[in-house]
Amino acid sequence: MFPMQPIGFVKSPYQETRQVPKGCGARHEAEGWLEILPEFAAGLTDIEGFSHLFVIWVFDRSAGFELMGTPPTDDRPHGVFATRSPRRPNPLGLTVVRLLGREGNRLSVAGVDMLDGTPILDLKPYLSSIPAEELRRGWLAEAEAHKSQAPS
Ligand SMILES: C[S@@+](CC[C@H](N)C(=O)[O-])C[C@H]1O[C@@H](n2cnc3c(N)ncnc32)[C@H](O)[C@@H]1O
Repeated sequence: MFPMQPIGFVKSPYQETRQVPKGCGARHEAEGWLEILPEFAAGLTDIEGFSHLFVIWVFDRSAGFELMGTPPTDDRPHGVFATRSPRRPNPLGLTVVRLLGREGNRLSVAGVDMLDGTPILDLKPYLSSIPAEELRRGWLAEAEAHKSQAPS
């Protein structure tokens, strides 16, 4: 198996899942903190130079999984690995946040979509080397186009 432990916890304005913006066009601008446990704080050395971070975390308030599901961004079912559903065989979340600043072992960030108290497993600098024109957005692009054409 793969023993893991939290390196810290998210301080988020969201207490409940219904508070997190969802669906097509939802923007994640909320500010929060990544509070890293003192024993891992030395690992933050030199992190200030990066504008964005990958946060790998645990959906600790999600139970079980479903291999097919209908996300809030579409009215058609998709495979779990083609979505960002919290109900996954391994309940790992991945969020890119903007690093606003550091106060000791606390990182001020923007773009949180995690609930308050969410366990953090890892942080990595966000380095994108894929040109925008090479990215394909699969079913999500279709769903967004469909919603933008629908009468309001
Ligand atoms: C669609 S998931 C995407 C999360 C992440 N950006 C990803 O792609 O893995 C975001 C949703 O996860 C739920 N969520 C956030 N923190 C959670 C937690 N600790 N446990 C269970 N569900 C959580 C919220 O309902 C939020 O709307």
